[in-house]
Amino acid sequence: MLRLVSYKVAGPLKASIGKSLLLARFASSDPKTTTASASSSSSSSSSSTKKPIFEGIPDAGDDSHSGEYIKTVSKPYTVTTYARPNLVLTHGKGSHIYDLEDRKYIDFTSGIAVTCLGHANEEISKIIQDQSQKLLHCSNLYYNLPAGELANKLVTKTRELDGMSDAARVFLCNSGTEANEAAMKFARKYGKMVSGGSEEKVEFITFENSFHGRSLGALSLTPNPKYQKPFAPLIPGVNVAKPNNIESVKQLISRDKTCAVIIEPIQGEGGVNPIDGEFLVQLRQLCDENDVVLIYDEIQCGLGRSGKLWAHSHLPKEAHPDIVTMAKALGNGFPIGATMITERIENALAVGDHGTTYGGNPLGSRIGSYVVDQIANEEFLAKVNEKSNLFTDKLEKLANEFPEKILKVKGKGLLLGLQFDEKVDINKIVEKCRENGLLIITAGLNTVRLVPALNIPEGDITEGLAVLEHCIRNS
Ligand SMILES: Cc1ncc(COP(=O)(O)O)c(C=O)c1O
Repeated sequence: MLRLVSYKVAGPLKASIGKSLLLARFASSDPKTTTASASSSSSSSSSSTKKPIFEGIPDAGDDSHSGEYIKTVSKPYTVTTYARPNLVLTHGKGSHIYDLEDRKYIDFTSGIAVTCLGHANEEISKIIQDQSQKLLHCSNLYYNLPAGELANKLVTKTRELDGMSDAARVFLCNSGTEANEAAMKFARKYGKMVSGGSEEKVEFITFENSFHGRSLGALSLTPNPKYQKPFAPLIPGVNVAKPNNIESVKQLISRDKTCAVIIEPIQGEGGVNPIDGEFLVQLRQLCDENDVVLIYDEIQCGLGRSGKLWAHSHLPKEAHPDIVTMAKALGNGFPIGATMITERIENALAVGDHGTTYGGNPLGSRIGSYVVDQIANEEFLAKVNEKSNLFTDKLEKLANEFPEKILKVKGKGLLLGLQFDEKVDINKIVEKCRENGLLIITAGLNTVRLVPALNIPEGDITEGLAVLEHCIRNS
């Protein structure tokens, strides 16, 4: 079979690559001109224009440019918290992403549900350039124009597009875990206010298979022993209920002790599990009866990903939360997060209760404003649903064709999952897809997760799904 790319660094070139040269080479590498190998420049330079599918090219070897870079520049100096393949990504455009070997991939991961408007979005590039020449940062000692605009837009668009009917205020921060930390603190403050300053109404209820982040507070709400055990003890008073089982919540909730319940309306990391609408209505009611704050973590499932502005926009008002947390898509890759609250929660807060150096900086806020303008738009959301149909039609066909491998198709909008039988090694499917030019990720419950850009072109969907089919068939 013809290989599009040769990974071997030719002997003389390899010998001449010292560490400093490597650093310079990789730092200045123009992805469009970087060749995969000195001896195969003609074949490699055409690789990005050729379709990579069904070639089954393994990840770059240790002798490739990628391997050399990882071995000498990156790995020895990077904290060992990730297991990664030999893949060094250099640039992207729309739903395509390229590596140091000049290989092209269709991206069904969008950086884990982040680059919702695609890689190298031209409008966002312009905003970054323009804002960087005006004001990048000024702290929260003062107002800045983009931060107010973003907060204003999030609230008004949320109310317009069937979200949290009494959305009122926004706290801007830099990531999902920070958005959840703010939500936890606001809920605790609310608990103290309504209990007359009691030190008891400080506990949380979270759910099995949920994911809320890695900082110690958010990690305490993430009941996964793999993530929690190495860092125990975590914050006390976190109780774990079962999703879609209101009795399990009833057994744990207490007017005196519980300050908040946190849930993802569609669980992402935990396996792409949409939560039943009826359960969320009951959950809201239970929170009201016990004066408990209801927090929806929409960090992964929010901002258009479900086919509506919010995953909870699909639900009746009777299931709307008191706090919504968001991040990921809001910056299209620029780190930003936000915590949106009702006036009832705002009433519990006072100056000095919470803060951040970078949150609400003019650059991130301006990018966020642009993203919200694009997503909070009926036409845009209608297209997300069309793309979702294209995906689910094909995924259902695959599930019918391979019933011994695929248990079910899950998710909503463009947060989709294929749950595989436990006999199937889904990491092998991910690897095989990568070798054939498609990036996908896994989630809990032996699930392959598909979270492409919300504006992914139909052609890329079809092409990517053909790769997925090929790899499932041959696994
Ligand atoms: C639902 C949910 N909450 C919180 C987080 C944490 O966000 P971040 O990684 O930006 O801190 C994530 C990240 O995957 C998430 O999916």
